[in-house]
Amino acid sequence: MLELKNINAYYGESHILRNVSFTIDPGEVVCLMGRNGVGKTTTLKVLTGLLPARSGQMMFDGADVTKEPTDRRARRGLAYVPQGREILPHLTVRENLQIGFWARSDKPNGTVEKNAFDEVYQLFPKLTQILGRPGGVLSGGEQQQLAIGRAILSNPKLLLLDEPTEGIQPSIVDQIEDVIIGFKNSKRFGILLVEQGLHFAARLAEKYVVMAKGAVVVSGKSNELSAEMVKQHLTV
Ligand SMILES: Nc1ncnc2c1ncn2[C@@H]1O[C@H](COP(=O)(O)OP(=O)(O)OP(=O)(O)O)[C@@H](O)[C@H]1O
Ligand SMILES: [Mg+2]
Repeated sequence: MLELKNINAYYGESHILRNVSFTIDPGEVVCLMGRNGVGKTTTLKVLTGLLPARSGQMMFDGADVTKEPTDRRARRGLAYVPQGREILPHLTVRENLQIGFWARSDKPNGTVEKNAFDEVYQLFPKLTQILGRPGGVLSGGEQQQLAIGRAILSNPKLLLLDEPTEGIQPSIVDQIEDVIIGFKNSKRFGILLVEQGLHFAARLAEKYVVMAKGAVVVSGKSNELSAEMVKQHLTV
C-alpha cells in the first residue's frame, strides 16, 4: 500500500529526514512515535507532497508518486489530518465537510454522498448540531472531529493523523480513540497515526515506527514494544 524508501528531506539547508524507510500494508494501523522535533510531522508532509523529498522514493497503491503533487496524491486516496487541523475558519462545518467529499476521485451519485455524510454524523453526533457554524469558532475537540470527518469523506486508502488527541479534553480523546478502533476493525483503509503516548501504539496500532533525530531507530509489532526502547526514545 505504502512504501517509503530512504527518504531524505530538508528545510532550506537543514537536513531533517535521514534515510527514512517504512511500509504500511492495506488496512494496517501504524503508529509513528518519537519525542518533540524528531521529524514526525515532516514525514507526513513528505508523504502528502507538501515538502518534496530531496532523495528517496515513495510508492503508494502500486504507483511511484515520489514526484507527484499533493492534489494528485489526495485523489489517489491519501487523506491528511494535520497537527493544526486546518479547518477553513470562514466556511461552515457543512462546507468544510463538503470539501472532503469533493476530493474523491470517483463521481458518486447522491445516495453515496448521503450515506457518506450519515456515517460521519454517526461517528461524531456533535457535528450535526453545529453544521451551520463557522469552522473558526469551534472548540479544539470539535475541530478535530470535523477534520477527521472531512478526511474520511474523501474515501481514503490511507489516512494520516498527526497527533489527533493533542490538547483535547479526555472525553473527546476517548471518542476519537473509539473511532480509530472502529476504522481499524473495518479494515477499509490504512492509518498512519502520529502519537507520542505509548498506550496509543499498544492499544490501537498493529505496528510501530519510532524516530529519533530525523531517522527511524526502531520499528516492529506493537505487542513487542520493549520497556527499554520506550525509556530510550519515548516520553512515557
Ligand atoms: N518550516 C520549517 N522550517 C525549518 N525547520 C523546521 C520547519 N518545520 C519544522 N522544522 C524543524 O524540523 C524538525 C522536525 O520537526 P517536526 O515538526 O517534523 O517534528 P515533530 O516530530 O512533528 O515534533 P512534535 O512532536 O513537536 O510535533 C525540528 O527540528 C523543527 O524545528
Ligand atoms: Mg509534529
